[in-house]
Amino acid sequence: MEFKLNDNGCSSAECVIVPVFENQELCVSCEGIKKMINSVRNSEAFKAVKGDIYHFTNISEETIKHILLVGLGKNEEITSEDVRKIFSKVVKKARELKIASASVKFFTTDGLCKKGTIKAIAEGMALADYSFDKYKTNKSEITLKEVSIVDINDEDKEILESALKEGLSLIKSTVFARDLVNEPANTIYPETLAERCIDAGKAYGFEIEVLDENQIRELGMEAFLAVGMSAFNKPRFIIMRYFGNKEDKENILGLVGKGLTYDAGGYSLKPTQGMVDMKSDMGGAAAVIGAMCSIAEMKLKKNVVAVVAACENLISNDAYKPGDIISSMAGKTIEVVNTDAEGRLTLADAVYYITSRENVNKVIDVATLTGAVLGALGTLTTGVITNDEAFYNDLLSAGKRSGEKFWQLPAFEEYKELLKSKVADYKNSGGRFAGTITAGLFIGEFLYKPMPWLHLDIAGTSFVDGAKDYLTAGGTAAPLRTLYYLVREN
Ligand code: BES
Ligand code: MN
Ligand code: ZN
Repeated sequence: MEFKLNDNGCSSAECVIVPVFENQELCVSCEGIKKMINSVRNSEAFKAVKGDIYHFTNISEETIKHILLVGLGKNEEITSEDVRKIFSKVVKKARELKIASASVKFFTTDGLCKKGTIKAIAEGMALADYSFDKYKTNKSEITLKEVSIVDINDEDKEILESALKEGLSLIKSTVFARDLVNEPANTIYPETLAERCIDAGKAYGFEIEVLDENQIRELGMEAFLAVGMSAFNKPRFIIMRYFGNKEDKENILGLVGKGLTYDAGGYSLKPTQGMVDMKSDMGGAAAVIGAMCSIAEMKLKKNVVAVVAACENLISNDAYKPGDIISSMAGKTIEVVNTDAEGRLTLADAVYYITSRENVNKVIDVATLTGAVLGALGTLTTGVITNDEAFYNDLLSAGKRSGEKFWQLPAFEEYKELLKSKVADYKNSGGRFAGTITAGLFIGEFLYKPMPWLHLDIAGTSFVDGAKDYLTAGGTAAPLRTLYYLVREN
């Protein structure tokens, strides 16, 4: 789908999309169209509530074959997330009608900035149109190819042009991240994930370093290795660096993405049903890699280092076993009580590495970590553990821009007692109760020194069974856009 800005009200597109507020007069320049719209405007057929769509066809105008009226609800109530959702419906309708080109009449609202509005229109449409069909013989037809956003004031053009550019970058990164998640584990494994990062680094402008198993061993990442050595496809440690503000090297944000390219559970084997979607256990890595792409492409004047400890959790002669006691880069020992609690082991070393070797002063880990977060928050909201309320509030503000939702879980000291082992410094699972909290707190024990830290458990939000609004079935790329805004705004 291609987007462009066009200040010419009546364009050559075959469909005109007219957003309508429930409580506001229309301003449409074409008299003919205005007449038609007003004929249904106040009828039962189209109330202009959020997400209402009304379709006119066989219009006498030359090229215009369709008009879609789109309800926006009340002007003062609409959010950017509403805009994304509404325009995801528009694109589905356009697909149904096999519309190839459309012009969208731009609109302004009391509560939203114009830049946020234009990005939300593009994101809602393009992201809803995503499909992962490269392995299907009959591919889903891409119908809507060209979208022009029209009726833009001359004085807004430049600013909206740059906002759209940012939106298109985030769309591209989101598609990249969704593809990475949706690719099965027989095509994306540590080595190929690293190759994709190398290509992305070249394309978008961030530095990249990939460590192999020997270099990982030299760093003492024994917890990560214990997980990764179970597989024929050997682990890789991927480091991505972007310094957009070299004068301010005191401020470097660290991003850590869980990168289990497959999680069978190891000897604490998952049942088949729990295993089918475990190619998605690198959703954290995908979000972090995608965020780096847009951060670099948009040349943000910020410093960010991202790492991914990429490996598979399988069964083999080399696999770690329940009961094993392993060490870690931090030197802390861990009793492995469950080989399926592997993510926190890889993250313990990745978090220790980034906080000790990369000079970051804040760190965020993003992980498909626990099934328990699905029980607590479902697929709507990412669970958060933090040691810093101000950092958490920054996350929430970024989430307001992206539309992605977050909720903090309690991190009281007492929960850490559940992680005490009789034979080692920690055990890797605190058991059934408070599973998301203890998993997060485990990772927090591996910061090299105290600093603001956010742990995002995206097991529920990064992969969904069915399409909903602009999220498509499979990988969602959450919380990629939030990470981008968090970097941009702080
Ligand atoms: N990758 C899984 C978590 C997961 C579950 C992600 C469902 C997406 C959907 C993780 O490695 C895992 O297996 N966690 C265990 C932890 C337990 C053994 C303490 C879990 O949640 O059951
Ligand atoms: Mn697991
Ligand atoms: Zn896992």
